[in-house]
Amino acid sequence: MMQYVDKFPVLTHIETEKALGTQPTIHPSARIWDSYVGAYTEIGANTLLIETRFGDYSYTAGDVDIIYSEVGKFCSIASHVRINPGNHPMERVTQHHMTYRRKLFGFGDSDDGDFFDWRRAHKCSVGHDVWIGHAAIIMPGICIGSGAVVGAGAVVTKNVDPYTIVAGVPAKPVRQRFENHIIQALLEIAWWNWPHEMLKSRFDDLLDVAAFISKYQ
Ligand SMILES: CC(C)(COP(=O)(O)OP(=O)(O)OC[C@H]1O[C@@H](n2cnc3c(N)ncnc32)[C@H](O)[C@@H]1OP(=O)(O)O)[C@@H](O)C(=O)NCCC(=O)NCCS
Repeated sequence: MMQYVDKFPVLTHIETEKALGTQPTIHPSARIWDSYVGAYTEIGANTLLIETRFGDYSYTAGDVDIIYSEVGKFCSIASHVRINPGNHPMERVTQHHMTYRRKLFGFGDSDDGDFFDWRRAHKCSVGHDVWIGHAAIIMPGICIGSGAVVGAGAVVTKNVDPYTIVAGVPAKPVRQRFENHIIQALLEIAWWNWPHEMLKSRFDDLLDVAAFISKYQ
């Protein structure tokens, strides 16, 4: 439903009417190349996915780039996040992309496959139920454990342990979300692998960590 106030469009209750389904919901402006996108996912405006596996229930807000990465289930990825920004070949005479995008400039019949394979070898991996805050950057080859939080504006240059909150440039641990025994229990329960109907029937249990663990551990 669109209403107009002083000629400016105002979105009213579109958000609450929306329902995701087993087919991904992909904004028309998103570009997705050679990637897998799971069920109940939402890919926001101007998102770019290249050679990425994007797990069930995960979503991106707008203007997100994810390249050569594995993203688990139930991840929340805020706008302007970039996962795996590619490095340039700093050791060459010129680091300009013409040295590997040769066709683009008429400098060769094919691009530099070895260079792109080198980038591919630095995959990023994001676990399940990870929240990545606004405009965070996850550098090539980084692994982020399940349940972790990446603060807004962080530049993540080191792997992040499960259920750990990191923030800053470079990102450093701020604290753990839970005590170790709770983290261990959640990782063992791995609720993110439950089928949709099971999740639905147990939905209220997700709201209380202590009760959840005593019920399902
Ligand atoms: C990291 C975050 C989750 C807060 O975690 P928290 O454990 O509650 O942290 P606190 O607010 O208690 O702050 C702890 C410390 O980290 C610092 N900090 C918090 N968020 C930070 C950030 N994004 N970058 C740098 N430092 C940050 C605080 O200044 C504080 O530092 P101090 O101990 O020197 O005073 C939150 O600040 C954040 O960045 N959320 C992302 C919001 C967002 O991007 N939303 C997009 C829509 S989904």
